[in-house]
Amino acid sequence: MLDTNCSGNKKSVSRVVLIVVPVVVSIILLLCVCYFILKRSRKKYNTLLRENFGEESATLESLQFGLVTIEAATNKFSYEKRIGEGGFGVVYKGVLPDGREIAVKKLSKSSGQGANEFKNEILLIAKLQHRNLVTLLGFCLEEHEKMLIYEFVSNKSLDYFLFDSHRSKQLNWSERYKIIEGIAQGISYLHEHSRLKVIHRDLKPSNVLLDSNMNPKISDFGMARIVAIDQLQGKTNRIVGTYGYMSPEYAMHGQFSEKSDVFSFGVIVLEIISAKRNTRSVFSDHDDLLSYTWEQWMDEAPLNIFDQSIKAEFCDHSEVVKCIQIGLLCVQEKPDDRPKITQVISYLNSSITELPLPKKPIRQSGIVQKIAVGESSSGSTPSINEMSVSIFIPRNLISGRQFYVITLPSKANIDDFICRASKGKCYE
Ligand SMILES: *[C@@H]1O[C@H](CO)[C@@H](O)[C@H](O)[C@H]1NC(C)=O
Ligand SMILES: *[C@@H]1O[C@H](CO)[C@@H](O)[C@H](O)[C@H]1NC(C)=O
Ligand SMILES: *[C@@H]1O[C@H](CO)[C@@H](O)[C@H](O)[C@H]1NC(C)=O
Repeated sequence: MLDTNCSGNKKSVSRVVLIVVPVVVSIILLLCVCYFILKRSRKKYNTLLRENFGEESATLESLQFGLVTIEAATNKFSYEKRIGEGGFGVVYKGVLPDGREIAVKKLSKSSGQGANEFKNEILLIAKLQHRNLVTLLGFCLEEHEKMLIYEFVSNKSLDYFLFDSHRSKQLNWSERYKIIEGIAQGISYLHEHSRLKVIHRDLKPSNVLLDSNMNPKISDFGMARIVAIDQLQGKTNRIVGTYGYMSPEYAMHGQFSEKSDVFSFGVIVLEIISAKRNTRSVFSDHDDLLSYTWEQWMDEAPLNIFDQSIKAEFCDHSEVVKCIQIGLLCVQEKPDDRPKITQVISYLNSSITELPLPKKPIRQSGIVQKIAVGESSSGSTPSINEMSVSIFIPRNLISGRQFYVITLPSKANIDDFICRASKGKCYE
């Protein structure tokens, strides 16, 4: 009995061995094959990276985030995580597994840039690091989705505080002066100190974020490069900009230079001082803040534009007047009449009050009337609260097949804008 039992066991054991061993061996073999294939393709991928990006491939890899990570961080891009929407896409707030807070800008599909060009631009833009610029942490590139990952800046944007009668009181004059200086430093870095000269082209209060100490950080720099708006320096047939902040030569002829950023900076300075938007008719019989400021300047009463809610506070009024003068100098019609941003910084820093005298700035309506208006394309997006909206305006009505991309301050202004523009000489 014992014997038969034993041999029975042996038989079933050997049967099990006969089945299990080949299965295990083939699984191991399969795994090995998979491993080598993966390793080879990884190697091939790395060689490809190295061929295309040389030494930078390691940097590039450290900048790349996986879609899974970003989806987890933003709760699969849920609506509650949306924190803004601009001309280039929707922005979501997210938290990485290590606890870092991020802002994810999901670029709209229309950016027709190839993966390699996109990575190239990211490499350049990620090197721009300054305390007055929002840090680009990396990117996510998956199938047809392109995303930019930024550090999260906690106190929203300048327009959120400035254009609200309650919140603007939280910004006293010394805070505002610090913000003006910080923006100038950030622009100066973009223009002068980084290896790559970057013209922002869309400077406005909603692109100036505020950190926990209310230090300004410029966002959206380098976007024209990232979405490949154009490659030519100095002249473009597609305009990225916001009505009210665009210099006349840029809005009307597509010419941009450091001086077009200086113009936008000037508008921002005057808005910071007055807590009023340039383009809203807040001064009964005046079109815009620039012409109102000019009138008060000529009447030798520049402080009339100073924000009433902080006027009572003790502050150095000569400093405010100096800033008004700087603002007016920056919004001169001719680019050559505007100071360079480094000059602005020295005006701000020195106690010297001998600044050049400004001339009359261009009226905002004068800029608008020269822009041709066609139909707004599918590229337009409805605005959410104070965020901006882009409309695409074919300029072929005037010459060639060229397009303007103009970002308007709010949805409400579009009709007004189109109406006013179409009354101009657009369709000749
Ligand atoms: C301005 O506000 C900041 C922060 O709220 C505060 O620290 C500072 O003392 C204020 N300055 C003046 C002159 O009131
Ligand atoms: C800015 O953010 C910090 C921290 O997030 C907060 O303590 C502070 O109150 C905020 N400042 C304003 C003016 O909201
Ligand atoms: C401002 O001027 C002081 C000397 O007057 C100088 O030490 C400082 O570096 C200047 N700051 C900037 C930002 O230019």
